[in-house]
Amino acid sequence: MEIFLDTANVDDIKRFARIGIIEGVTTNPALIAKEGRNFMHVVEEICTIIDGPVSAEVISTDADKMIQEGRMIAGIHENIVVKIPAIPAGFEAVYTLAQERIKTNLTIIYTSNQALLGAKVGATYVSPFVGRLDATSTNGADLIKEISQIYNNYDFKTKILAASMRNVVYAKHAALAGAHVATIPPEVLDEMMKSELTDLGLAGFLKDWETLPEEKRQYFAH
Ligand code: G3P
Repeated sequence: MEIFLDTANVDDIKRFARIGIIEGVTTNPALIAKEGRNFMHVVEEICTIIDGPVSAEVISTDADKMIQEGRMIAGIHENIVVKIPAIPAGFEAVYTLAQERIKTNLTIIYTSNQALLGAKVGATYVSPFVGRLDATSTNGADLIKEISQIYNNYDFKTKILAASMRNVVYAKHAALAGAHVATIPPEVLDEMMKSELTDLGLAGFLKDWETLPEEKRQYFAH
């Protein structure tokens, strides 16, 4: 499973890009607004930090305007993926942009039928909002499994990009359910690297190490 960072914060993107954990970035209008920066500037900067897909979203809800915005956003950098909401006009916009070989991410997906149609119109990615679905007492991981089965049944090339990963459990479920990609917020990715048991195990090793006479551990002297 590929991992994208779900943020528009360039410091966080630099931090994770440096250690090789992330392959791409997803943004949305809310994440851009949170940074309080000019949309074009922040998206351009993200593309200089990470050499992989960067999703940037249109803000119109009319097909023609989404297509215009999509072309403009796609022009920022060759790695841009135009994010388009899964409303009826969005399917039309994805279809047109896909014909122009512009990569798209059909987002705010809540049903496997939306994902099926997303694949039909040529979306590069579909983004099921797993965490938000769970918040309505519907199992988000099941949605990924359904989409995965549908895509396998018909050999669709569209990738499942699990989104709204609000804690570490969602990330695990996305991987188990066969998502191609999960887009994960920085604070969740930080937590995924940790276990209290690992800290406890390490503390034990280092404590025992101290029992070795100093001259026998000189290789590690700094
Ligand atoms: O890309 C945005 C998506 O991941 C939404 O996340 O936490 O706002 O539901 P959230």
